[in-house]
Amino acid sequence: MSSPIQPIKENASMVVFGASGDLAKKKTFPALFSLFKDGRLSSDLVIVGYARSKIEPNDFIERITQFIKIDDNDSETKQKLEQFKKMCTYYRGSYDGVDSFQGLNNHLLEREGDREERNRVFYLALPPDVFVSVSTQLKQQCYPQKGAARLIIEKPFGFDLDSARDLQSKLNPLFDENEIYRIDHYLGKEMVQNLTHLRFCNPVISHLWNKESISNVQITFKEPIGTEGRGGYFDTSTIVRDIVQNHLVQVLSLIAMEPPTSLAAGDLRDAKVQALRRTRLGDLKDVVFGQYVKSKDGKRPGYLDDDTVPEGSKCPTYSAIPFFVDNDRWDGVPFLLKAGKAMDVGKVEVRVQFKPVANGLFKDAHRNELVIRIQPNEAVYFKLDIKQPGISSKPLLTDLDLTYKNRFTNMKLHEAYEALFFDAFAGDQSRFARIDELECAWSLVGPLLEYMEKEKPQPAPYEYGSNGPELLGNFLQKFGYVYD
Ligand code: NDP
Ligand code: BG6
Repeated sequence: MSSPIQPIKENASMVVFGASGDLAKKKTFPALFSLFKDGRLSSDLVIVGYARSKIEPNDFIERITQFIKIDDNDSETKQKLEQFKKMCTYYRGSYDGVDSFQGLNNHLLEREGDREERNRVFYLALPPDVFVSVSTQLKQQCYPQKGAARLIIEKPFGFDLDSARDLQSKLNPLFDENEIYRIDHYLGKEMVQNLTHLRFCNPVISHLWNKESISNVQITFKEPIGTEGRGGYFDTSTIVRDIVQNHLVQVLSLIAMEPPTSLAAGDLRDAKVQALRRTRLGDLKDVVFGQYVKSKDGKRPGYLDDDTVPEGSKCPTYSAIPFFVDNDRWDGVPFLLKAGKAMDVGKVEVRVQFKPVANGLFKDAHRNELVIRIQPNEAVYFKLDIKQPGISSKPLLTDLDLTYKNRFTNMKLHEAYEALFFDAFAGDQSRFARIDELECAWSLVGPLLEYMEKEKPQPAPYEYGSNGPELLGNFLQKFGYVYD
């Protein structure tokens, strides 16, 4: 058994690679500031943004704090922000040059000053083709002689099973598995973390969590914006690599897994892997692929109207895919993973639909559903029948509604990246993907990727701002979902 990973509490540095990028300004630095403000980061933390772009120090600070919003009269937070700014510097360098990384190391040494140990967290918010060169240089030039190292790697981890394995084989000689933190930011979301609690703290749920009670499970991702400007990346990625293989498969594994031996990273990830090993793709002919076209009013462009998209591309921007978990608990229950860009709303949810009532007393009873709304407006609600109030004996479908913002009025929910960075410093890998999880996830979608590559199926059109391709209705019906 490997020894537990020690948390980093002091003598800490973090280097954010790709610090000139979008993610850095929109998510990374706001998340780091939020952790700092709440006293969750080591007070001696040195933060270095690293990228190739020439950026003046002041401009860098301006850039990374532009998405941090503070009330005008909140002087305490304003003061914290000034402190935070002093913790952050920018270092310009390449992603493969020895000189650049020696320079980075010197910059770190200078900023860290005398320390008994140097605990360094390296966060690669970079395109995947430079993961290996950056990791190699880090190991050679910046790896602490005394102290802990953590390598946080953004998605995508590979393009398919072979490339994920290849990437891992190149990281193997550089960093140990317990030093590598592979991000799937969905694992940092409050309601995704909540799945374990909902399932294993509540006998009323755990006793029903099986094929005897559950008819079908839907995991749905909808985004109201298209791929505008990202068409180049998206066209090879497709909705399957961009969303399904990672975020939705991770959620599936948490729903399907057997109770883990403990909540420790090893046990939790073992349970997820076991579930994924039992999971298989349904029939390819049942998969629905869609591609968005202009909105009804013509104001929003179709996928193919984007200049960055290859002409005539058949890239799916929508998919609805059936999976099955072949074990005693789930035999025959479809897990329907639906994901789409340019949809009517932005929403991510898990919808567990239960089997119909079998006592025959009520012909017009509705299905029970447990809905876990991951975003926006986090909620858990349970749809159930009651007697229609008043002089009536009809069943009425209503819900027990736990909408977080109503129930927890003064509580601030964290951003996914806050939780993940916090865990990375704490040395808790339970919400990061282990390599075998990713291998399972790639294997699971492998036949689908191959089919898309070889057959190039024509995706069904759906209007920008709609609910997806019309075929969706038949798809859901086929797998037993009943609209009430
Ligand atoms: P960017 O495309 O903005 O890239 C980040 C930085 O990487 C850029 O500022 C640039 O810095 C450098 N860069 C860009 N292209 C190349 C290249 N071809 N070779 C080397 N360096 C390059 O990405 P984001 O900031 O949006 O995201 C960072 C990474 O995180 C992405 O690669 C993506 O894989 C992942 N991501 C994850 C998301 C998530 O939600 N988990 C969401 C979005 C992205 P410079 O030129 O100054 O060195
Ligand atoms: C990223 C995808 O992983 O997740 C993006 O690459 C997508 O295409 C994003 O927009 C969605 O994340 P969130 O947290 O906004 O649901």
